[in-house]
Parts: sequence; structure tokens; C-alpha cells
Amino acid sequence: MNSAVAFDIYGTLIDTQAVLTRLSALIGDKAPAVSQLWRQKQLEYSFRRGLMADYCDFSVCTRQALVFACQHEQVSISVDAVEQAMQAYAELDAFADVPAGLEALRQQGRPLYAFSNGSRAAVQRLLDRAGIADYFSAIVSVEDVRSFKPDPKVYQHLADTCGLPASEVCLVSSNAFDILGAAHAGLRTAWLRRDAQSVFDPWEARPDIVLEDFGALARQLAPAD
Ligand code: 2OP
Repeated sequence: MNSAVAFDIYGTLIDTQAVLTRLSALIGDKAPAVSQLWRQKQLEYSFRRGLMADYCDFSVCTRQALVFACQHEQVSISVDAVEQAMQAYAELDAFADVPAGLEALRQQGRPLYAFSNGSRAAVQRLLDRAGIADYFSAIVSVEDVRSFKPDPKVYQHLADTCGLPASEVCLVSSNAFDILGAAHAGLRTAWLRRDAQSVFDPWEARPDIVLEDFGALARQLAPAD
């Protein structure tokens, strides 16, 4: 059976840039600072909750992080504006290079999986909206094991869902913490460096593959097994 390829969602398949655009319309020129702190805090809250074994829907981390970021940047934001910013997360598009890249992998006969901190329902809505849901054998959400990336058990859950040993699952992610978590759990990894400014953490593990564009993935993965 071909090895499987799993994809992180936010920032890898799905472009979160539209969130900044919506935020700028809602809060003005502090949006870039708030947006950067929002993403940082959203992930930090998921890390904390994973360590605390205090699982909640990822959207709760996202909402609480936005409120924190606005308070930290001394930006007043109404409850309604928070909901409008949150709605932007539900209305994101896939990066332009994703459909062709997924098609090339499908031609190789590889089973493809969506893998996210987001709930299955939230990811399904994004994939449906982007018109790419049919490429995936399944959506794997951390909600099934009530923890968050980079807890090893979420990656084991992914491999179990694929029906393969971890070493036969390749995770594609633009998030270095996700790549390091997957590598620690024994998966193969492909870091998609969408932002030329992004730096990979100087830890012991390195990605098996580094991609500058999504279209190169099918070419770089080993020939069909
Ligand atoms: C994910 O989709 C948070 O981007 C990360 O799981």
C-alpha cells in the first residue's frame, strides 16, 4: 500500500491572510500587531491545554487569544467584532497552489489526509468551501483524542487512522512545531516553507523534506512504494 500523506490545515493548505484583512477592517492600523500576537497566543493556548489535559475546541483557543491580543495591544473590540473576526477563520481559501499539488499526489495513488487542531466540522467546512474535500480519505482532528499538537498521541492517532506505521505517514506542515512533533512521533516530515522569512527551530530533528512550493511535493516524495 502506498505511504500516506497528511496535511496540516491553517497556514499549509488554507491561507489565513484573509483573517488579517478582516481584522484591519475591524480594528484599523493595529491589526498587524494584533494578528501576529493572536496566532502566537492561539497556539500557546493549545500547547498549555494539551499539557494541562484541559481540552477545548480549538475555536475557544482562537477566540480567547484574539481577546488577549486586543487587550495587550490596548485595542477595544466589541463582542460583535470578535465574532466577525472569528467568522473570517471559517471563510478562508486554499492557497492557489494546493489543488494542482493534491491532484499530482492523487495521480501517484497516495492516500491523503487532512490533519488539524481544528474540529472535524470546522475543517470539513473549509475543505468543502475550497472545493478540495474529495482529495482526502479522511479528516483527522485532534478532538478525537482530546489533546493538541504536538502531543505524541495526536500523531499516533493520525497513523492509526491511516492504518499504517508512523514511518509510512508523511506530514506536510508549514508549522515547525508540528514538524518537530511529528518527527518525534516517528512520522516522515515535509516542511512547507511558505514564508521565506520563517526560520526552523534549531532543535535536534530536521525535516526530511523542505519545500518552497506545494507543487514540488509530488516530485520530492519517494516514487510510489
Ligand atoms: C492546525 O491546523 C494549528 O495549523 C495548525 O492544526
